[in-house]
Amino acid sequence: MRVLLIGSGGREHALAWKITQSPRLEKLFVAPGNAGTQALAENVTLDVADHQAVIEFCRAERIDLVVVGPEIPLVAGIADDLRAAGIAVFGPSREAAQLEGSKAFTKALCDEMNIPTAAYGKFDALEPALEYVRTTGAPIVIKADGLAAGKGVTVAETLDEAETALRDCFDGAFGDAGAEVVIEECLVGEEASLFAICDGTHTILLPAAQDHKRVFDGDKGPNTGGMGAYAPAPVMTPDLIARAHREIIVPAIEGMARRGTPFSGVLFTGLMVTADGPKLIEFNTRFGDPECQVLMMLLDSDLLDILDATARGTLRNVTPKWKVAMALTVVVAANGYPGAYEKNTVIANAENLDSDTVRVFHAGTVRRDGQLLANGGRVLNVTAIGDTVEEARQRAYAAVDAIDWPEGFCRRDIGWRAL
Ligand code: AMP
Ligand code: GLY
Repeated sequence: MRVLLIGSGGREHALAWKITQSPRLEKLFVAPGNAGTQALAENVTLDVADHQAVIEFCRAERIDLVVVGPEIPLVAGIADDLRAAGIAVFGPSREAAQLEGSKAFTKALCDEMNIPTAAYGKFDALEPALEYVRTTGAPIVIKADGLAAGKGVTVAETLDEAETALRDCFDGAFGDAGAEVVIEECLVGEEASLFAICDGTHTILLPAAQDHKRVFDGDKGPNTGGMGAYAPAPVMTPDLIARAHREIIVPAIEGMARRGTPFSGVLFTGLMVTADGPKLIEFNTRFGDPECQVLMMLLDSDLLDILDATARGTLRNVTPKWKVAMALTVVVAANGYPGAYEKNTVIANAENLDSDTVRVFHAGTVRRDGQLLANGGRVLNVTAIGDTVEEARQRAYAAVDAIDWPEGFCRRDIGWRAL
C-alpha cells in the first residue's frame, strides 16, 4: 500500500514507526512530518488546508490510504473531500469531527443518548452566562465552544475567576471558538483517557491511558498539550472500562450512526472517574499526543491493517493484540513552553538511544546541515516499555538523561499516579 500520513508531531512519528513495520506498506509519505519521520518515510510539503492540492498529490502518487493525525484538518472536512474523490481515509467526516470541534454539539449528543457527563448550560451572550454562574456558584468550568488548542477551558475555583473567563471568551480571546460558551459543573475524581477505533458501527477498545497536562512536577503550572503519558492506566479497572464503553462510547457511536453521520476513526474519550462512575469530560476525534506514543509501543499487531479496515468499514475482521507490559513516555520540551521558547537549538545524543525497550519519538524537530534542531514547544517524546511502570519509567528517564540539550526540560514525575 501507498500511504499518506498528515501531521508533524510525536503522534505522527509513532504512527509512522508502526506503519513502516507493516509488510503491506509499499511507500509512506508524511506531510509535513519532522526529523523523526524523515528517517522512516518521505516528508512532503503540502498545504493541508488546500484539499484539492491533497487530492491531486494522492492521485499523482497513487495513494491507497490517507491517515489524518491532528484535529484541525478533520474539522475542516478533509476526510469528506478525500472520500468524495474516491480516496480511503482514516479519520472522521466534518460532521463526526464536531464531537471534538464543538463542545455544545457533544453536550447535545449526551442529552440525546443519556451519556453521563457534567451538568451544563450553553450561552451566546455574556449577561445570561454571568447570571448562570452566580446562581450555580464556584467551582465551575468555563469552556469556549470551538477548537482553542487546549486553551479554551478554565476550571474556575472562584466566581471572580469564572466571570473573568466568561468576559475573555465573549471579548474574543479565542476568536470564533469563544462566540458560544459552555458552562459545566466541576467534576471531582481522577482523569483517564480511553481510545476506541470505530468504522462507523464496530468498535475496538485500546488500552486506557493517563496524560499529565500541567507543565511542572506535582501537576503545577499552566496546561499544555501533555507532558507525558502511560498505559495501561491502572485506575481504569476492567469494570470501569466496560462501564465507560457501555455508557459513553457505544451510545455516542450509535447516536452518530442514527443521525446519519457515523463516526469512523479513533474516538478519544476524556473521562473523570467520579464516585458515581465514569463521566465524559470531552471527546477528541483523533489519537492523543503523547498518548498515541505509548499505545504504539504496546500494539503487537499490524497498525496498517487496523487503519485500513477502519477506513473501509471492515473492522469486524480485525482483532489487535497488545503486549502485556507498561509503556510510558516523557515529553522533553523547549524551555519556556507552553509560553514563548527559543527555536533552532542543537540537540545532541538523541539519535542512538533506540533499543527493543526504548524509542525516542520526535515531535518538534528538524534536521539541518546534519544537525538535529528543536523547532517546536514539545520536541522529543522519550518512550519506554517494561514489565512494570517503574521499569518503563527508569528506562525512559535513563534515555532522557543521556540526551544533551541544555535548552530543554521535562517533568521528572511522569507515572506518579500509577506507582
Ligand atoms: P478539555 O479541553 O475539555 O479536555 O479540558 C481540559 C481540562 O480541564 C481537562 O483535562 C480537565 O482537567 C479539566 N476539565 C474540563 N472539564 C471539566 C469538568 N467538567 N470538571 C472538572 N474538570 C474539568
Ligand atoms: N494529550 C492530550 C491531547 O492530545 O489532546
